[in-house]
Amino acid sequence: MREPLGSHFRRLPRDFCRGLHSCNRAQRRDLKSARDTGKIAIAKGTRDAESAELDVSSRLATILVTGGAGYIGSHTLVELLAAGYDVVCIDNFSNSSPEALRRVERIASRPVRRVDGDIRDKRLLELAFAAAPIEAVIHFAALKAVGESVLRPLDYYDNNVGGTISLLHACRGAGVKRFVFSSSATVYGIPQKLPLTEDMPLSPVNPYGATKLVNEQLLRDLCVAEPAMSVVSLRYFNPIGAHASGLIGEDPRDIPNNLFPCLTQAAIGQRERLSVFGSDWSTRDGTGVRDYIHVVDLALGHVCALRHCAQSTGFTPINLGTGRGTSVLELIKAFEQASGQPVPYQIVERRAGDIAECYADAGLALRLLQWRATRDVKQMCADGWRWQQGNPSGYS
Ligand code: NAD
Ligand code: UFG
Repeated sequence: MREPLGSHFRRLPRDFCRGLHSCNRAQRRDLKSARDTGKIAIAKGTRDAESAELDVSSRLATILVTGGAGYIGSHTLVELLAAGYDVVCIDNFSNSSPEALRRVERIASRPVRRVDGDIRDKRLLELAFAAAPIEAVIHFAALKAVGESVLRPLDYYDNNVGGTISLLHACRGAGVKRFVFSSSATVYGIPQKLPLTEDMPLSPVNPYGATKLVNEQLLRDLCVAEPAMSVVSLRYFNPIGAHASGLIGEDPRDIPNNLFPCLTQAAIGQRERLSVFGSDWSTRDGTGVRDYIHVVDLALGHVCALRHCAQSTGFTPINLGTGRGTSVLELIKAFEQASGQPVPYQIVERRAGDIAECYADAGLALRLLQWRATRDVKQMCADGWRWQQGNPSGYS
């Protein structure tokens, strides 16, 4: 049974330094130097690492979150903190801002421990694992732009596969056996049948999707070789929306390609109109259908996945979707209703590489994780709009 948040918060300064029992002298020296050079940020008021006493009986689980400053990672940090977990976030801010972590701290009223840098930096990872006794890892850090992955496959394999390999080596070194991986519905490729169930054939159609599949295969193989490992691979459908506070949300660095940020930009006047890619698909209104999922529901799925990891072993892929498809025109309508804001749009040609329809069978998540999405498309639009209005330039 977890302790109430209040008591945990009071104990945080002492807890920050727990786990140093597992540090050797060289690691302590590196940890101190990383702290001095600002690579590891420690919340104000925490005690000095080397003078900390270890209080194992008061321990709450600490989760290492890679890519925690990103869109899904930041929302997951909030839910982990709210559930009573302690977190260490490692991010190189290649597609995010440290401001997201400050906002997470504001929402949760708790500090986030930060290790700033790349997960391919083995030394830094060692330090992250040495800074606290990590019980499980949630691995978000990846590059995710499909078009870019076609142009720069080497960078994508290096970052997404190389990063995972480096992380798994560090997990092994630290004896961490529980691992939650950010996968994607993109691993299914062109759906043969709908809804998509986890046992359907996997056949991604771009390098980004291929990196997700390679990582899944690697994790599957690892679970065979190391039977004590417990890996949940969460295959996300289409996350949209933002935290209800309006403080964190999606902040695309480049010109966005995904529907929802394009839609909100059209609504706020940052782009003239939304282009709707085709109205001749074999769907109910001719526009593409997807399984949009509120990013907070998705974040909560990770908390449930962690609990599952603690009770199981082996590799388990699980869809995180609502099980309901929404067309582009339906999403525009829901957004207009939720925001009271008209969305100027025009129908244009189909986008290369698109599929007509994609939605999840979300039954396994309910059975194994006792998780299901509860927020509807209107709520996704209302929360996403609040974020966009309050932060027209994102975190900058
Ligand atoms: P995001 O880009 O907002 O977050 C990824 C974070 O990882 C960023 O903060 C980035 O700076 C960090 N990062 C990337 N490479 C790193 C590295 N080598 N070392 C340290 N940090 C690194 O993306 P997101 O939308 O939050 O996605 C999170 C995960 O979910 C990714 O693995 C992505 O592939 C997966 N996913 C996302 C979607 C989606 O639609 N957003 C759908 C399916 C799967
Ligand atoms: N769409 C438009 N106009 C736009 C953008 C998108 O009409 O400006 C349409 C698309 O044609 C599609 C739907 O909106 O019918 C959704 O498109 P997104 O680009 O938002 O999402 P996708 O399903 O195509 O792809 C997303 C991620 C991928 C991931 C995939 C499955 O971008 O990385 O979901 O998880 F692989």
